[in-house]
Amino acid sequence: MSEVRVEQVSKRFGGLLALNRVSLEARSGERRAIIGPNGAGKTTLFRIISGEMSPTEGQVYLGSKRIDGTPPEHLARSGLARTFQHSSIFPELSLAENLTLSALAARGQTHRLSRMQLEKKVFEVLAQVGLEDKAHQPAADLSHGEKRQLEIGLALAQNTRVLLLDEPLAGLAGAERRHMAELIARLPQQLTLLLIEHNLDFALGLAHQVSVLHYGELLAEGQPDAVVKDPKVQEVYVGQAASAQINPKDRPQKPVLLRVKGLKAGYGGALVLEGVDLEVRQGEVVALLGRNGMGKTTLIHTLMGLMHPMGGEVRLEQQEITSLPPQSRAALGISLVPQGRRMLSELLVEEELILAQRPGPWSIEKIYQLFPRLEERGRFYSTSLSGGEQQMLALSRALVANPRLVLMDEPSEGLSPLMVKHVGEIIHELRQSGETILLAEQNVDLALGVADYVYILEHGQLVFEGTPGQILQQRHRLQEYLGVGKEEARL
Ligand SMILES: Nc1ncnc2c1ncn2[C@@H]1O[C@H](COP(=O)(O)OP(=O)(O)OP(=O)(O)O)[C@@H](O)[C@H]1O
Ligand SMILES: [Mg+2]
Repeated sequence: MSEVRVEQVSKRFGGLLALNRVSLEARSGERRAIIGPNGAGKTTLFRIISGEMSPTEGQVYLGSKRIDGTPPEHLARSGLARTFQHSSIFPELSLAENLTLSALAARGQTHRLSRMQLEKKVFEVLAQVGLEDKAHQPAADLSHGEKRQLEIGLALAQNTRVLLLDEPLAGLAGAERRHMAELIARLPQQLTLLLIEHNLDFALGLAHQVSVLHYGELLAEGQPDAVVKDPKVQEVYVGQAASAQINPKDRPQKPVLLRVKGLKAGYGGALVLEGVDLEVRQGEVVALLGRNGMGKTTLIHTLMGLMHPMGGEVRLEQQEITSLPPQSRAALGISLVPQGRRMLSELLVEEELILAQRPGPWSIEKIYQLFPRLEERGRFYSTSLSGGEQQMLALSRALVANPRLVLMDEPSEGLSPLMVKHVGEIIHELRQSGETILLAEQNVDLALGVADYVYILEHGQLVFEGTPGQILQQRHRLQEYLGVGKEEARL
């Protein structure tokens, strides 16, 4: 019998049919990947299964029990959990305490556990998520990736039988990404897993079965090999094989647009950037690589004026801009694509674009040609967009400002494989039309494929600079600093 079953589920948001009569099921112990373009309805489906939303039509069953409309906390007690919503971690409590609370909460008053059983369970879960060394540390001290591991642990502590994971690898780079992938692969066999993930190597390697959603409908279903070869799936989701051509040339001798000298920045008393020197020349794409937490976003924020530097100097051509506020930098032609789709206002999609627009070659019409999805969603609030759609909007807002320098912080995060290739093409096109880009990116393939020059940031210092060709001649550097080899750059 199936463990979870979705029957003819539809979901309407105003004029948008986000899901249209979707049916799927997963047997006990099955790993099922749910893939599909940005905005296809994947997260909406998870919200309905986990009880956060009711379907407009259709039913959801857990075993033989109908569960649509049941609130998430009740479902958690029945053994179904979804992670990566709002984190339910208590930062000041230790990992063991967090897991103990989670285990107790799920059981309610009815199934009491002895203290010993509880302790045993907690340490079993800590081992499963690879955090047994940190049992007694406060959760606040964990790295970004470890917090995400703990979130999975919180679900496991609740005796979860069905686990829904929505893009568990997103936002993780290098070793943290690998840890998470390994942890998921090692989850108990009897657990039923539904996984949304744009990283196809990982998702297809893990899944027994794959369901592909497209515009709210089930486009294809079956075993990973067959599904990924399906021409329909290739067309809407996977795209042509990547032809990441590394630019073999030396760095172009062009005038310097942005010059950063001895830049220091940090939070509270702690320095995150410890004296960074870099330059971005007119018309080039400069990639900034580095693992999570090495200072990429801090650097980008300091260059945009969102953080005050604690030392050093930033110049745009001849003008010193070290202490200018963000709006003055925007007026000088610096534009930011922020990480993680933040900084959207409570506006309609088209209003976001109209407000950001300045004269120049990038018009709203041109944006809609690039991202037809945004035109379709033009009259919706930007905050209701799917993860990937918000990322497209963030990129579009930066482009319609027709900037001289675009700062991009992880623009490929959360995008479907086809869209990631598309973003690579967009960056390429920007470069052809003479624009200048500083790109912080953890997708090494994408970054090396578009960059003229690369810097690697490690613990707030630049530890390598060179052309993509030079970096590839020194693969051990990629391994050493980014925790990846070129072959496994995507994982
Ligand atoms: N609360 C809401 N109000 C209005 N529209 C919504 C709402 N939630 C989602 N949508 C829309 O429904 C569609 C499906 O969104 P969903 O988040 O399920 O996509 P997704 O497949 O998870 O995409 P991604 O891969 O980008 O995360 C999108 O077009 C989105 O804009
Ligand atoms: Mg989603």
